[in-house]
Amino acid sequence: MIILEAKNVTAGYTPELNILNKVNLKVKSGQIVSIIGPNGAGKSTLLKTIFGILKPREGTITFKGDDITGLNPDRIARKGISYVPQVNNVFPSLTVEENLEMGAFIRNDDFTPQMEEVYELFPVLREKRGQKAGQLSGGQRQMVAMGRALMLNPELLLLDEPSAGLAPLMVEMIFEKIVDINNTGVSIIIVEQNAREALKMADHGYVLAMGKNVLDDSGKALLANEEVGRLYLGG
Ligand SMILES: Nc1ncnc2c1ncn2[C@@H]1O[C@H](COP(=O)(O)OP(=O)(O)OP(=O)(O)O)[C@@H](O)[C@H]1O
Ligand SMILES: [Mg+2]
Repeated sequence: MIILEAKNVTAGYTPELNILNKVNLKVKSGQIVSIIGPNGAGKSTLLKTIFGILKPREGTITFKGDDITGLNPDRIARKGISYVPQVNNVFPSLTVEENLEMGAFIRNDDFTPQMEEVYELFPVLREKRGQKAGQLSGGQRQMVAMGRALMLNPELLLLDEPSAGLAPLMVEMIFEKIVDINNTGVSIIIVEQNAREALKMADHGYVLAMGKNVLDDSGKALLANEEVGRLYLGG
């Protein structure tokens, strides 16, 4: 089953300029889909458009067969999509636990079981639950951001550069956690500079450049593609 489909999506920040030009993307239920491409390609813009922060000027976005084009982020979150932005993705002056509670803000039911699951996935967050998020290491802050996104029990998780700025060991650990999250049944779209690693764990990968689809294929095929290697994976 296709869980998310973007068809011919055109979007931008100012009326004169389209950043995304007829972008297409498909995610099958249970997949990890990685989006790679140079700086400024529009990768973050695509995630923002899927999550409703930017409204498409053209094209459609469907989630589980429902048209979600143009809906506001809170409506999209209620439908089962969570988003971890590239920057400013935690509240630094709030504790770890308060950050997780903020993630559940639109839930009226008891979210304790979900918080327990987040603490099981990231045991270090349980230890640090009373500490301010701003005092944590970069990797731990990224775990808080992902944990916050998981509080809504999403079916699809959008991750924008989760490994950015992290030490190599922490990068490896974050990628392992992403696979763990996927193994619980959550479909994932991940945007990464760390393109090689992102393609290794991807069922499918998309290359974007200058706001357009360049190529898409299985993660394995893209890794083996000589041109992709030379242009986007640093040789
Ligand atoms: N808030 C904004 N207002 C206006 N233009 C923006 C805004 N955010 C991004 N842009 C522009 O949109 C284009 C695509 O940016 P985007 O952040 O989507 O790229 P990206 O592929 O995520 O790049 P990076 O790898 O650097 O994160 C760039 O030209 C950027 O300058
Ligand atoms: Mg970006």
